[in-house]
Amino acid sequence: MTVQKATNIKWHHGKITKDDRVNLMKQKGVTIWLTGLSGSGKSTIAVELEHALLENKHLAYILDGDNIRHGLNKNLGFSPEDRTENIRRIGEVAKLFTDANMIAITAFISPYRQDRDNVRKLLKDGEFIEIYIKCPIEVCEQRDTKGLYKKARAGEVKEFTGISAPYEEPLHPELTVDTSKMTVDESTRAVLNYLEAKGYVKF
Ligand SMILES: Nc1ncnc2c1ncn2[C@@H]1O[C@H](COP(=O)(O)OP(=O)(O)OP(=O)(O)O)[C@@H](O)[C@H]1O
Ligand SMILES: [Mg+2]
Repeated sequence: MTVQKATNIKWHHGKITKDDRVNLMKQKGVTIWLTGLSGSGKSTIAVELEHALLENKHLAYILDGDNIRHGLNKNLGFSPEDRTENIRRIGEVAKLFTDANMIAITAFISPYRQDRDNVRKLLKDGEFIEIYIKCPIEVCEQRDTKGLYKKARAGEVKEFTGISAPYEEPLHPELTVDTSKMTVDESTRAVLNYLEAKGYVKF
């Protein structure tokens, strides 16, 4: 648990309500949390999803693993504690985006169930959609888009999810997308259909 250091702080409320933003933007802010092994397809789907949403005049923004580690989380590594802190900070950022009524799409391996559940708890009911980007590790390893599986097998990359660090599958994700059985288009469409069916967006 992260310690609260600051004292004597008080929340300052604005005049704009969530409903004001929903009416203005014609969408309901939400965090779409993609989780899965490296190479499962999180970034690929995030990019297609963001594109499809913007083409339909919906505001979405991707928070992606490596990108965030270049800046906000550049002081964090891949130990269990750092992974937890990584996800905690991302969760807080996603919460801000969601409060601003954006569709935040996150693409992090986020291997620990507890960390993901903590983010879910940060957000209100219906504001967190956990999507399991499912793909057998053999397929991810064959894809090896970043060449990291090879390095992990050779022991050159330590604490690599699925090889030398655990991945805890979601138990009750809102949606599961099996990218070993679906095309990129079909996977993206499955998420878009979910968003429309639940009234977050309208096409
Ligand atoms: N249905 C699918 N959905 C997404 N990607 C797919 C699908 N089928 C095949 N792929 C391919 O799988 C690879 C997924 O790589 P991607 O970088 O998106 O994975 P990632 O989950 O973001 O990994 P990392 O955690 O390392 O960032 C891409 O080469 C993509 O073209
Ligand atoms: Mg990625």
